[in-house]
Amino acid sequence: MKRKLLLRFLSACVLTAALQTAAVTVRADAVPDMVAPYATSPESVVEQMLLLARVGPEDFVVDLGSGDGRVVIAAVKNFKARGGFGVDIDSSLVEYSNTKAIEVGVADRAKFYLRDLFKTDIREASVVTVYLLPRGMNKLRSKLLDELKPGTRVVAHDYQFQGWPVDRVMSFDVPEKNDYTGRRNTALYLYIVPHPSGPAISRHPTAAVAGEKEPAAR
Ligand SMILES: C[S@@+](CC[C@H](N)C(=O)[O-])C[C@H]1O[C@@H](n2cnc3c(N)ncnc32)[C@H](O)[C@@H]1O
Repeated sequence: MKRKLLLRFLSACVLTAALQTAAVTVRADAVPDMVAPYATSPESVVEQMLLLARVGPEDFVVDLGSGDGRVVIAAVKNFKARGGFGVDIDSSLVEYSNTKAIEVGVADRAKFYLRDLFKTDIREASVVTVYLLPRGMNKLRSKLLDELKPGTRVVAHDYQFQGWPVDRVMSFDVPEKNDYTGRRNTALYLYIVPHPSGPAISRHPTAAVAGEKEPAAR
């Protein structure tokens, strides 16, 4: 009898320890990794990003870390994309974006969600846009390569994906960016998700390029 009680006590202890570990894991996983502060792509840059991706009526555009929603709203309103969504971890930005989409009459095609970009289902995208810091870019790269359909266009603002050959690069001056990045120069990078039978791209990018500067929060 005593032995039975002891065994029951021991298994309860093991179960409690396991549950505590699980609880810690769940909490740690639930905290999103903030991979960029809020800084908007100026409207002129948004336009060039969407032109670079050749966004049109067939496209579904996803902005990962969507800020005030301007990229997806411009894609459906000005480039007639069939739809799109943005995700952000800042609830006030998500709320603002959905309100703006209603105001400009595109809420049926442009939606914004409070969601961690690393846990977002991106398979519907034909175009993905990002304006994230180098650490975020490196962390995101394998998700894009693993989940996006071959041929999907990815446009990155200012920071590149390490080890993923770029399809096209654009560079131009945007004076208002000087206020929050300390530089006027803007670079846009277009990537095309390769077909699995194409040349392999390493899933493990090297460290960020020396000299890449991280933008300050606005
Ligand atoms: C530099 S802003 C870019 C805003 C917009 N894409 C643009 O180009 O104007 C980056 C955004 O990413 C969001 N962000 C950072 N880490 C995130 C994460 N793990 N999941 C979702 N959003 C995130 C920030 O809250 C911020 O609004």
